[in-house]
Amino acid sequence: MGDARIYVTRRLPEVAMRILEQAGAVKVWTEDLPPPREVLEAEIAEVEGLLCLLTDVVDEMLLCRARKLKVVSNMAVGYDNIDVGACTARGILVTNTPGVLTETTADLTFALLLGVARRITEAERFLRAGQWETWSPMLLAGQDVYGAIIGIVGMGRIGQAVARRARGFDMQILYASRSAHPEVERTLGARRVQLEELLRNSDFVTLHVPLTPETRGLVGERELRLMKSTAILINTARGPVVDEVALVRALREGWIAGAGLDVYAQEPIAADHPLLKLDNVVLLPHIGSASVKTRTRMAVMAAENLVAALAGQLPHSVVNPEAWGDRGRP
Ligand code: NAP
Ligand code: GLV
Repeated sequence: MGDARIYVTRRLPEVAMRILEQAGAVKVWTEDLPPPREVLEAEIAEVEGLLCLLTDVVDEMLLCRARKLKVVSNMAVGYDNIDVGACTARGILVTNTPGVLTETTADLTFALLLGVARRITEAERFLRAGQWETWSPMLLAGQDVYGAIIGIVGMGRIGQAVARRARGFDMQILYASRSAHPEVERTLGARRVQLEELLRNSDFVTLHVPLTPETRGLVGERELRLMKSTAILINTARGPVVDEVALVRALREGWIAGAGLDVYAQEPIAADHPLLKLDNVVLLPHIGSASVKTRTRMAVMAAENLVAALAGQLPHSVVNPEAWGDRGRP
């Protein structure tokens, strides 16, 4: 066992804990809810490694207390909960878990898309409420996914995995992304367009950008009003990419037909949030990557990243390699 001190903000699968224990003394926050801020502030002062979740905010104020910290390993691909600039300035590596969750998150995105289009949860609520009296021609009739136009915003790992699924449903694929992706255009027939054109023409708009200063509020009132009144918005990226107040109006007033959401401006969403009163939405509690296999792989990857950094090796997935500096150079 190494002699580093490590703090883990939630209990992880055993296989990941065993990896961490090789590197040093591991302390775990064992409650189900995240550690309170004062606990994190006290713990961070003592450790070389922090393994955290997307619910833990690692900001400048917290880092001011981190006298020995060398690495922050996030068990998520998104790292908008971490002030990466402040970590880099202190020579602290930030790592994440890309790739291992791509297909699982794309599956969930498609489940939401199908769920809203075919009114799955609404239909189940109807049945359970004892309202099903007979088969009738237009009962709970929804929209076809097969053959429709899908607009993918952010053609990265998850965007591409969604595009592959869309191809299987014979959908036409439009995408808007920072860069062109010629391989995706060639193999899946996707066409790159400006965001405005994508919004005007898509039957389904699905968001796969990270949350950054550029993408915060990317879909607001103007963008929602550009969409077809029959269109459906899917968000499995991050809540603040969409202006939620405008989205509620869009869904109530029929600017768009429906939405499928896994992420929200505030998580968990308040029990009295207006979205919960709407029938044309499917709402999930941020479970995009939540299969047993994938969550285990994410925990293992996060543990391996942390152990590598503490052993003086550049981890597999580093968000800020510039924080590494001259370490490890001959
Ligand atoms: P990724 O491979 O980095 O893909 C993100 C894509 O967004 C990249 O292709 C990038 O552009 C594009 N992009 C970035 N900024 C943009 C901008 N301003 N305008 C247009 N496009 C922009 O990341 P990923 O692995 O697919 O994950 C994407 C996000 O999904 C994560 O950051 C996370 O927030 C979210 N996520 C959520 C869940 C969940 O449980 N709901 C699970 C996993 C991930 P180019 O490549 O075109 O340059
Ligand atoms: C989940 O939301 C992730 O970013 O991995």
